[in-house]
Amino acid sequence: MIEQEHLPRHIAIIMDGNGRWAAKRALPRVFGHRTGVQRVRDIVEACCDLGVEFLTLYAFSAENWQRPAMEIADLMGLLEEFIRREVDELHANRVRLNVIGRLSDLPSRIQEQLRDAITLTRHHTRLCLNLALSYGGRQELVDAVRSIARLVSQGSQSPELIDENTIARHLYTAGQPDPDLLIRTSGELRLSNFLLWQISYSELYVTPTLWPDFGRAEFEQAILEYQRRDRRFGRSQSPAVPSAPPPDAS
Ligand code: IPE
Ligand code: IPE
Ligand code: MG
Repeated sequence: MIEQEHLPRHIAIIMDGNGRWAAKRALPRVFGHRTGVQRVRDIVEACCDLGVEFLTLYAFSAENWQRPAMEIADLMGLLEEFIRREVDELHANRVRLNVIGRLSDLPSRIQEQLRDAITLTRHHTRLCLNLALSYGGRQELVDAVRSIARLVSQGSQSPELIDENTIARHLYTAGQPDPDLLIRTSGELRLSNFLLWQISYSELYVTPTLWPDFGRAEFEQAILEYQRRDRRFGRSQSPAVPSAPPPDAS
């Protein structure tokens, strides 16, 4: 049973494996992406039901622009369809939509639709859904450094007073807690430039399941596994976890 009091506040997901899912069925990749969108709906719904406060989904990376133009067009088409079909439902369910990444890289029509959806849902507090679009962790750090440097050059930020909080405040995720749990589907053991700063102490859950097959049951399994972890943050083992008995305990 999921314990409500130890729920991860923020879950981030690298939704990978759509292409392999389609290839296994001898279908074009877009079918995998299309089925993947349905899983987005399921996982958002699960977060609302469970009470997860922040969900960050890696939907399109800065590096994904290197894919064939046809696949990019398919992905942008699906994104537009998602916004058109789902925003009313997100609004009705009190979900706040937010985008992290370089929004200005996206086709202008999609930028407008996203801005409208962000404005429409901006006061909701049940779940904050961050869609990572044209997102790269290094690019995010570059953007943060640029904005801090601007403040320094204007004289409104002293270099000596820059600390971790200053940097966090200039990231796309400013004001949000760091992810407690990072899930990656389809088994790759890498971060692919996702949330490099924010996941320094996230618990990792990597599953061979391909994203279009990742349902609510496995999502809940991932949360259960997270709840069994001992998050030490560099401290010694917490006393709640039984340690070896002392030598005279027999
Ligand atoms: C994830 O699935 C979706 C995006 C990166 C947009 P992939 O398209 O990367 O699927 P695989 O990794 O090739 O199976
Ligand atoms: C990461 O998946 C990006 C998204 C899920 C959007 P990729 O499929 O692009 O990552 P690599 O290329 O396998 O590292
Ligand atoms: Mg992939």
